[in-house]
Amino acid sequence: MTIALIGLMGIQIYWIQSASAIKEANFRRSVNESMVKVVQKVERMEKNKALASNQYESMLNFNRHLPYDSFITKVEMDSLISLQLNMRGVDTRFEFCIYKPETQEFIMENSPNFRKELIEKGNAFVLFQADIYTSPEYLLIYFPREKQFLLTELWGMLLISIILIIVIVYSFTYTITTIFRQKRLSEMKNDFINNMTHEFKTPISTISLACEALNDKDLRMSGETLDSYLSVIQEENKRLAGMAEKILQTAVIDKGQLKMNREKIDLHEIITDVIKNLRIQVEIKDGEIIRKFGATKSRIEGDKVHVTNLVYNLLDNANKYSPRKPLIRISTENANNGIVMTIEDNGIGIGKNEQKKIFDKLYRVPTGNIHEVRGFGLGLSYVKAIVEEHHGKISLESEVNRGTKFRVFLPFIIRE
Ligand SMILES: Nc1ncnc2c1ncn2[C@@H]1O[C@H](COP(=O)(O)OP(=O)(O)O)[C@@H](O)[C@H]1O
Ligand SMILES: [Mg+2]
Repeated sequence: MTIALIGLMGIQIYWIQSASAIKEANFRRSVNESMVKVVQKVERMEKNKALASNQYESMLNFNRHLPYDSFITKVEMDSLISLQLNMRGVDTRFEFCIYKPETQEFIMENSPNFRKELIEKGNAFVLFQADIYTSPEYLLIYFPREKQFLLTELWGMLLISIILIIVIVYSFTYTITTIFRQKRLSEMKNDFINNMTHEFKTPISTISLACEALNDKDLRMSGETLDSYLSVIQEENKRLAGMAEKILQTAVIDKGQLKMNREKIDLHEIITDVIKNLRIQVEIKDGEIIRKFGATKSRIEGDKVHVTNLVYNLLDNANKYSPRKPLIRISTENANNGIVMTIEDNGIGIGKNEQKKIFDKLYRVPTGNIHEVRGFGLGLSYVKAIVEEHHGKISLESEVNRGTKFRVFLPFIIRE
């Protein structure tokens, strides 16, 4: 496509060039024809004048023409040239002079400002060629705005070509970017489906194993083992439900049907609850969650379940993406009629280019072929949607291999 496009553009340029060459040749021909006519007229005027004024003397002077100012004025000359040029469609400003190279004399000129151009670039036409006794005199003509004149003749074509090329290039880039975006999206969807299958498979197989064991008549179980099997099933079932819920929720956000149950909630309480749930996972990795509640007013208007999920998602990421000894700091403070909550970790960090994308649905920072950390790439898009529902703001600072700091602002009151 690119090659075809460049080829087309090349052909277009070639056509415009040849069109402009043709225009220029036409222009030259018209000028020549006009000036030949002018020369003829001037010579005839001189002859008429000579015959009228004094037959005898003019016969004597047959081969020596009268001085120009005796039979033609500058203005007459100007209008003579102008008439001839206009008749042939040459409608641009011109400068002319009558020049005698032998004496370097400008016998007649319409303005002295163009002497140099007239001599260097002007078109020359011999006057009184038959007059063999005087050295030749030339009628010179020069068009100061020749280039512009030729261009205006081509302007329409040039403009249409430029517009067409812009349209084609624009649609071309649009198509290409769309293709690439679609490709990335389909890759992300594939990853997502692979991940999901994996995530669902583990609890399903655990449950089916437990069920098999419970069904096995040969295995005689005590009440205690029975209970533990049942609780395994219950736990795994909860996990399944949780994952299904997560996926369904994004579908709900997509359709804009997120339901918010507004009430007064205490952010500090919520954070404490979430930490309680996550503490063990962090401590297994020899890590630590440090909280610093600097906000004096911790109550805000919001949906308890969603805000809990929000805090959970951020803390879960901080833990998941800190491979060894996670040190997670969560702090709050009051600002701008609301609370700013920061969650900082010392994990793998996020590159500058990825920082914009991590809030996109299904986006996960690529880490080669295998992700050692499981996830759907839905968490942060959900977090962002919830923050926006609460009329808050979310931002992040991060450096690869140093850690990440998310800053969430939630206002006390949600104003519509
Ligand atoms: N604290 C963090 N440190 C490093 N990378 C992070 C952090 N939080 C999120 N990310 C990156 O952003 C991506 C999107 O996060 P998220 O939407 O929660 O998806 P998931 O956790 O399911 O992968 C993650 O896959 C990860 O690459
Ligand atoms: Mg996550």
